[in-house]
Amino acid sequence: AGLGVASLGLSSMNGSAAAVETDSTDQWTRAEAEQIKLTDDTTAPVISDNPNSISDDYWIWDTWPLRTRDGSIVKINGWQIVFSLTAPNDLVPGARHNAATIRYFYSRNGKNWQEGGKAFDAPLGHHQWAGSAMYDQTEEQIYHFYTAVSPEPEFRQRPALGIGASIETSPKGVELTGDQEHLIMGTPDGEMYQTLEQSKDQGIVYAFRDPWYFKHPETGEDLAVFEANTPTGSKDPSDPKSFNGNIGVMRATNDELTEWELLPPVMEAIGTNQQLERPHFVFNDGKWYLFTISHKFTFAPGLSGPDALYGFVGDSLYGDYKPLNESGLVIANPEEAPFQAYSWLAMPQGDNILVESFENFRGLDNTSRGSISLDEVGYLPSEEQKELFGGTLAPSLKVQLNGTETKIVAELNDGHFLPSVGRSG
Ligand code: FRU
Repeated sequence: AGLGVASLGLSSMNGSAAAVETDSTDQWTRAEAEQIKLTDDTTAPVISDNPNSISDDYWIWDTWPLRTRDGSIVKINGWQIVFSLTAPNDLVPGARHNAATIRYFYSRNGKNWQEGGKAFDAPLGHHQWAGSAMYDQTEEQIYHFYTAVSPEPEFRQRPALGIGASIETSPKGVELTGDQEHLIMGTPDGEMYQTLEQSKDQGIVYAFRDPWYFKHPETGEDLAVFEANTPTGSKDPSDPKSFNGNIGVMRATNDELTEWELLPPVMEAIGTNQQLERPHFVFNDGKWYLFTISHKFTFAPGLSGPDALYGFVGDSLYGDYKPLNESGLVIANPEEAPFQAYSWLAMPQGDNILVESFENFRGLDNTSRGSISLDEVGYLPSEEQKELFGGTLAPSLKVQLNGTETKIVAELNDGHFLPSVGRSG
């Protein structure tokens, strides 16, 4: 990806000599996105059989596993734990975002999941959106990264962190206990990261959300990538420059992780795409694989791409990144079912990745020819809307990583949706 709006500078960090150097922000360019094409290697099979059932009472969408500081998936006394955005499934699907609550689920075999309840006692925000969960094995406590969101229609978003939950296991199940301290990790600065107020002038959706924790594999620093926008000053929604998605990063400035500083974004899609959602890394063979999800409707005028998992590969936090498969496309929904899944999350599995996602809308197409378009769903009677919505986990996909190329090699239609982990913890 070519060089873009550069926010250069070496930030000092706790006086630590090993601190990561910030560098110029890479761009996902229009020329790269113009290469997007669905191939056998990048197109998911149509979901025909979906044995993943995790809850009878709730819609489930964005989901993440409990991971250690190093990023491996945690298994404690035989139990795996995942966290999901949930909302009561008597709501119409579109209403779920304003009612999203993070709940945890646990399983011994990765197939049969039990509901554990809410992840927090008193989180920040009217409701909570996506995040990540880190378990420090020495402290034996969970760091819950999430997005504290204000009510509709504003949806002001603030990355938040809840510290202090511990895990109690028994042969029967898992319980999260302990008082948690909740704090806001940061707010947009208006220069590297667009504020809600700036985005109002622009008349377009804004984002400052989805913190995903990771430990820098070389310097050991505590970092979090997140979804945001770069202020471009453009106030015209037909101007490609109004499409200004970025992948931001912040760094903890103390060991308790209670204080964070914003660093320049690692990736921008100015003129290309408005939303680079749920960004996350997979470290493989010394390479930094940066993944993000995006929608068809957030591509800038003149570009088209599917609801999909997109990805880039580089040598360090600031790249330089190359889009995977020339364009960035890694997993697209099939043309026959363009909204069948969303919110893909890639997890390392040996030399491959395993990618979980949720089942979104069935039976919709792009065109509204003969079928229903995504825009029309909200106008259907509520029972019909619910009928079309999956609201559960989709079959996970195994994807081979091969330098700058990837290939979907298998669909896990056996009910498992996480990489299998050995005994630990
Ligand atoms: C992706 C997403 C996230 C956000 C959540 C809101 O599916 O848009 O970016 O946290 O869903 O429901």
